[in-house]
Amino acid sequence: MSEKYVLALDSGTIKNRAVIFNSKGEMVSYAEKKISVNKPHKGWVEQDPDEIWSTQLWTAKEAIQLAKISHRDIAGIGVTNQRETTIVWNKNTGRPIYPAISWESQQTEDICKRLVNAGLQEEIKQKTSLVINPYFSATKLCWILENVLGAKEMAENGELLFGTVDTWLMWKLSGGEIFATDYSNASRTMMFNLRNLDWDDDILEHLGIPRKMLPEVCPSSHVYGETDAAVIGSRIPIAGCIGNQQADLFGEACFKKGMAKNTYGEGSFFLMNAGKKYHSSKNGLITTIAWGIGKEITYALEGSVLVSGATLKWVKEGLGLIDSLSDSEWLAKQVPDADGVYFVPAFRGLSAPYWDMETSGMIIGINEDTQRAHIVRAALEALAYQVRDVYESVVSDTGMDIKSLHVDGGASQNHALMQFQADLLNIPVIRPYVAETTALGAAFMAGLATGVWESVDELKKLWREGMRFKPSMSERGRATLYDGWQEAVSRVMGWPN
Ligand code: G3P
Repeated sequence: MSEKYVLALDSGTIKNRAVIFNSKGEMVSYAEKKISVNKPHKGWVEQDPDEIWSTQLWTAKEAIQLAKISHRDIAGIGVTNQRETTIVWNKNTGRPIYPAISWESQQTEDICKRLVNAGLQEEIKQKTSLVINPYFSATKLCWILENVLGAKEMAENGELLFGTVDTWLMWKLSGGEIFATDYSNASRTMMFNLRNLDWDDDILEHLGIPRKMLPEVCPSSHVYGETDAAVIGSRIPIAGCIGNQQADLFGEACFKKGMAKNTYGEGSFFLMNAGKKYHSSKNGLITTIAWGIGKEITYALEGSVLVSGATLKWVKEGLGLIDSLSDSEWLAKQVPDADGVYFVPAFRGLSAPYWDMETSGMIIGINEDTQRAHIVRAALEALAYQVRDVYESVVSDTGMDIKSLHVDGGASQNHALMQFQADLLNIPVIRPYVAETTALGAAFMAGLATGVWESVDELKKLWREGMRFKPSMSERGRATLYDGWQEAVSRVMGWPN
C-alpha cells in the first residue's frame, strides 16, 4: 500500500507554515512565510486577511512541491491557527470589510468596560468560562459592526460572515463551500456556551451580533468538506481544525488528564489537559475546549500570558540592549543571577492569572552595580516566572500533581531559560524531538478523521522526547526567587498605564 501523508496548515501570528507529515509522524517537508502585523494606533493590532490567505496558500503549494508527492497521496488537511483574531467578510464578494483584528489588539477596551459596567462579568464567566477582555473575539466583532459604515445592516441582512482565522482559511480553501469552525476555536470567542456547546443567544443579544453570521461548530477531527480544485490543484479533504495552542497540547502528546505544556511565543500559553468534565477555574485561569473527537469533548485549563517573548523583542527594539533575540541567552549567562532585579512585562496590563487590564510594566531592584546583563537576565527570567504563576493557579484549582512540563516555541530553544524553568517549577521540563508540535497536532486531527491513524493510542507511540531539563535548585533558592517575583507583581498591580 502506498504511503499516506497529511498536510498541516499552521497559521500563526507572525508566520504561516505548512508541514507535510508521513504516517510515522515524521516531517517530510516544510514551508513558511512571514506575515505583517500592523499597529495603526497605540494598542491596536491588525493584519491583512488577504495576506494571511495568500501566504498560507503559498506555503501549502510549496510544501507539496518540496515533498515531491502528488495531491492524491494527501489523505487530509489539518488547519490550525492563531486564535481569537477576528475577520468579517462579505459573503457575496468574499472581500473582508475591515482588517483582521488581532488577538493582541486592545482596541475594544471601551466595549469591555461597557460590558463590565452593565454587570455582565458573572454571566459571561458562567457561560463561556472567559473573563471580559479585549483578547477574545466577541468584542472585536462587536467593534467592527459598530465602526464600519453599514456593517450592522449588512450583518442583519445576512450578507456578512464572521470567522476566526481557521474559518476564513477553510472558506477560502473550499471556494466558499465550508463555513465552519471547531469547538476549540469557538471556545475562545466569548460567545460560545461551554455548557450546551452552542453560540449563546443572550451574549449575542448583549453585543448586537446576529447569529446568522456565525459559523457552524464541529469536532476538531472531522471531515469538513474538500478543497476547491481550482484553488490548490485537486480536491483534498479538509479533515482537521483546531486552535493552535490546543493543537500544540495534542501534538505534545498530552493526551492524559494532568499532562501540561507551555509554548513560548509572543505570548506564552500554558495548557493542562483537564479531562472530559467541565471544570471552572477559581484562580484566574480559563477553561477552554481542548478538542472534540467524535462525540467526546476534552477540556483544558489555560493560563494565557499575553506578553512573553514580546518582552525580549522590546529589550532589543525598545531598549537596544541586544542585537538579536539569541543574544539574550549569551548575555544572561554573563552574570550568575539577576542580582535582585525583577522585570514585570505588564505592557498590556497583566493577563492570567491576574487579569488587570489597567496596569503597566516595571523593572525594579536596580542599583549602581546593575549591568545590562542583569536587566536582560531579568527579562528572560520573567518568562519563567509568569509560567510559574499559572502553574500555581492550575495546581490550586485542581489539586493535581503535574509531573512534568512539555515545552515548545522559540524561547524553548534557550537552554538557560529552560533550566531556570525546571528549577523554578521543580519538575522536569521536556522538549520534544519534532519541533513543529502545533502542526503535528493539526495533522493528527486530520489523520484520525481520514484513517491514517486509528486511535490516540497509536499516536502515543509516534511521539518522541528530544531533551529533558531536570530541576537542580535548592528549595530555599527557589522560594527566595519566587517570593521576590510575587512582591514585584504586587507593586505593579493598580499602577496606571
Ligand atoms: O491566543 C493567541 C494564540 O493563539 C497566538 O498564538 O503562536 O500565533 O502567537 P501565536
